[in-house]
Amino acid sequence: MAVGIFDSGLGGLTVLDAVSKRLPDVPFVYFGDNAHAPYGVRDADDVYGLTTQAVERMWDAGCDLVILACNTASAAALRRMQESWVPQDKRVLGVLVPLIEALTERSWGDNSPPREVEIKHTALFATPATVASRAFQRELAFRAIGVDVEAQACGGVVDAIEDGDMILAEALVRSHVDALKRKMPDPQAAILGCTHYPIMHDTFQAALGEDVKVYSQANLVAESLADYLGRHPKMVGTGTENLFLTTGNVQKVSDRATQFLRRQITFEAA
Ligand code: DGL
Repeated sequence: MAVGIFDSGLGGLTVLDAVSKRLPDVPFVYFGDNAHAPYGVRDADDVYGLTTQAVERMWDAGCDLVILACNTASAAALRRMQESWVPQDKRVLGVLVPLIEALTERSWGDNSPPREVEIKHTALFATPATVASRAFQRELAFRAIGVDVEAQACGGVVDAIEDGDMILAEALVRSHVDALKRKMPDPQAAILGCTHYPIMHDTFQAALGEDVKVYSQANLVAESLADYLGRHPKMVGTGTENLFLTTGNVQKVSDRATQFLRRQITFEAA
């Protein structure tokens, strides 16, 4: 049994960390497509092609359920995959909806009509592809009315994190927060709409100010997965071991992952 966690690179490790703490008995297969990161500057067809290839590799590794722990893939490819590509006995779920359900004070799968919520002014930080897809705004519109979303495409941040250049990543985060604040001076909430960004959580929070509630996905996705597996226990699949796969340089990716998670992580070639 194993559940797949997919990202373009290292960002999905923030989700992997939370799901493996929440569900310690479930083996996880992590797939980082580091050779092709960042996805955030690719077009939707390209993201779809790369994501389906990676997910197929995870079916082969014994996963029946794969979480796209990548907002860019969730925004640009998930719907197309679910509509025409995912086999009947498999599932692929994304990371946008659990976050939006938290922001709009809803429990899992609450499909009641959109209503007013407490948060009225929200900043969205995400990759250029996620911002261009407008998937957040679309999912939000199904659940809430009267929420003003200002999106900031955070070019460069994912590359800097993948390269381990945290000084550059911090400088870019500060400049993207400044740019956002010029458009929306007083956001009440900020969504970290890319799974790489929780690695920079403290920099976002400091630049935004302590009054801004910063939402990131890891724990929300973990709760949502625990709930899903409670209702669909068979979706845990046939794989039995934790496995870390990458299309990138195995040594380099293992070193960075070990640095981010502060425990030894050893990747294998995908
Ligand atoms: N961590 C991913 C996301 O959540 C991918 C970022 C990228 O590859 O550009 O969007």
